[in-house]
Amino acid sequence: MLIKIARPSDCKASDITPEGIYLSRRTMLGASLAGAAVAALPGVALGAEPSRYADVEPGAAPGWFKDKLGATRWGAVTVENEAITPFKDATHYNNFYEFGTDKGDPAANAGSLKTEPWSLVVDGEVAKPGRYALEDFVKPYQLEERIYRLRCVEAWSMVIPWLGFSLAQVLKQVEPTSKARYLRFETLQDPKVMPGQRSSFALIDWPYVEGLRLDEAMNPLAILAVGMYGRELPNQNGAPLRLIVPWKYGFKSIKSIVRISLVAEQPQTTWERLAPTEYGFYANVNPTVDHPRWTQARERRLPSGLFSPNVRDTLMFNGYGDEVASLYSDLDLRKNY
Ligand code: MTE
Repeated sequence: MLIKIARPSDCKASDITPEGIYLSRRTMLGASLAGAAVAALPGVALGAEPSRYADVEPGAAPGWFKDKLGATRWGAVTVENEAITPFKDATHYNNFYEFGTDKGDPAANAGSLKTEPWSLVVDGEVAKPGRYALEDFVKPYQLEERIYRLRCVEAWSMVIPWLGFSLAQVLKQVEPTSKARYLRFETLQDPKVMPGQRSSFALIDWPYVEGLRLDEAMNPLAILAVGMYGRELPNQNGAPLRLIVPWKYGFKSIKSIVRISLVAEQPQTTWERLAPTEYGFYANVNPTVDHPRWTQARERRLPSGLFSPNVRDTLMFNGYGDEVASLYSDLDLRKNY
């Protein structure tokens, strides 16, 4: 991310697929997110048949995930009139530096990551800290399908159907103390299976760390995802548990989380530490504040190729301004990029 600027040639012309094929039925139904009351959206079918996506490769879902699928709220949040990115692009054009810096590296190398068993620590300023087996951690929560735009700071974007649950529900469960003002997230650190962490060229000080303000984390759009395209997360997309904050640049959406800490001070995050003039703590999608080395006014929507770059205007807060702009009414977004 730091060193590479995405070029149209990164995608082969053969990757281009007619957009209409990937329009999901529910996307066209257009139950868009109006207001922040996600849980109260009309037209949400409880336990309905899973959405079907054209090209999904089946995974080997753990038992707890299969059990949860039956009660999933399909299409709980959608994006109107925008094609869902083909599964192949969403799973073979990735950023997951623990597995390499090229877009194809995570798909090629992340198979070595063992996601079962997986444990997660919630600690810091909470009344109920704990170490959980993943299946116990997710047990209280109903899965929802959330179709969100994902906008990378490198100026490419996708539309992805995630399966997850709101971070706010988790926070209510663990009860932040009055001192808690931020969340700090940490990815697994295991150089044995993560070649990027063994590389002597790596600039990142592992583990990968991200953070949110507590009120951002409480916003109904912020979710912890365990699946995508109706199946469990592929390893390269951050299995078994990742953050999704759709109004922020993709680097905030940290993958393969092992620790969530509630803290009093703003945590230092991976990209901010590495290049503070290029990547900030907030990282809200903002077409009016350019990256020092490229414009943020436009983006390439994948699939994108040399002859069909599929460029579109970037939307303020990635199109989620109605839901999140009030979080930043006191903030100069030019300084707090
Ligand atoms: N999380 C970890 N642990 N390591 C990473 O390198 N890359 C980030 C984010 N989360 C990254 C990460 C970046 S830059 C982006 S754009 C998104 O993951 C990409 O998510 P995707 O590969 O599922 O599209």
